[in-house]
Amino acid sequence: MKIRVGLFFGGRSVEHEVSVITGLQALANMDTERFDITPIYITKKSELYVGEDIGKIEAYRDIPALLSRSTRMTLVNEGGRVYMVRQPAKKFGSNILGELDVALPAVHGTNVEDGTLQGYLNFVGLPYAGCDILSSAVGMDKFVQKCVLKESGIPVLDALRLSANDASAIDKIEAKFEYPVIVKPLNLGSSVGISVAHDRAGLEDSLELAFEFAEHVIVERAITDLTEINCAVLGDEYSAQASVCERPLGSDEILSYEDKYVGGNSKGAKSGGSKGMASLGRELPARIPDELRDRIQTLAVQAFRALGCSGVARIDFMIDNESGELYLNEFNTIPGSLAFYLWEAGGMSYKEQLSRMIDLALDRARREQSINFSFDSNILANVSFGGSKGAKGAKR
Ligand SMILES: Nc1ncnc2c1ncn2[C@@H]1O[C@H](COP(=O)(O)OP(=O)(O)O)[C@@H](O)[C@H]1O
Ligand SMILES: [Mg+2]
Repeated sequence: MKIRVGLFFGGRSVEHEVSVITGLQALANMDTERFDITPIYITKKSELYVGEDIGKIEAYRDIPALLSRSTRMTLVNEGGRVYMVRQPAKKFGSNILGELDVALPAVHGTNVEDGTLQGYLNFVGLPYAGCDILSSAVGMDKFVQKCVLKESGIPVLDALRLSANDASAIDKIEAKFEYPVIVKPLNLGSSVGISVAHDRAGLEDSLELAFEFAEHVIVERAITDLTEINCAVLGDEYSAQASVCERPLGSDEILSYEDKYVGGNSKGAKSGGSKGMASLGRELPARIPDELRDRIQTLAVQAFRALGCSGVARIDFMIDNESGELYLNEFNTIPGSLAFYLWEAGGMSYKEQLSRMIDLALDRARREQSINFSFDSNILANVSFGGSKGAKGAKR
């Protein structure tokens, strides 16, 4: 029997549209001999939809029309099996739309990639591909991930984490850093809300912008002569391998959302629009010295393990060309286009990559099943709140 995969994309995130592209690209490349795939669209209101046209990219030109001919559903665990159930339920006839064995999250950004979707899947008991709840959450928080990485001896730039209600934010930043500095929302992606400040007035504008998108921001030294190198890792804590490295090419000081997804005007963009991360202009493989490539690949695997990642993650590095220093910039626990182009460049087809991701998910589910979650005890047999002991008396 084929493995029944729920392929999730969309969600309440600024990267909603990019996720639709990532999801439908994956759908088109999965091994249909092995997998029976249900594309599941998460709306911007976090509703789940399935249906005939949910897997067709053209249908997303008019989302309200698409939803009107699709079926809203929710996941329900019944006796250890996970079903897609019509929502709201019809009074007559069956509401069970299908059953799933495993999920493939192809979502980007807050409220989905950050452990939220993983938590939901975990709660209903559906195994899923990719990072678990904790590594997803850490991977989304630009400050916490630096703390974890520093602990593992991986080079990162020092940063300040600031909240929107901090009246002395500017003084703190100026006490720690020289200009230029870069201000980033704590937990977004795709360069949304990020800008470089060259002086105090610019810093006020940068903070204003970043706080439009998040309650917390991080600030770090801006590298003025920068080379960016990205490398993906596929596997889990038992086996993890690094992909070839790429050098993304942007048109501005920072790679903008447009550079990444709209292409068109940007320097090396191969083709405009609608292809997701795969359409970004890039040098692939990156023309860098072998020793540097080896160092990046080693650090990428080390970082993947340090965060406890699984599935595929893309890890982005920065080189300060003035000092020659290499820093890990950030994690993408569900990278745009699932970073398939990095594996393809190394000889692994997208189909093979997706199959491995599902296999890793099923391996993890098997390992988890062997852990005992119910510690046999009969403490509840004698508890009542009527007497003097109550709840306190139960715990010693
Ligand atoms: N410290 C820095 N100095 C200079 N440029 C930076 C720095 N940090 C990030 N950038 C630029 O900003 C872009 C987006 O920052 P990043 O931390 O990767 O956030 P996002 O999650 O939005 O991709 C990077 O790709 C890089 O071009
Ligand atoms: Mg980035």
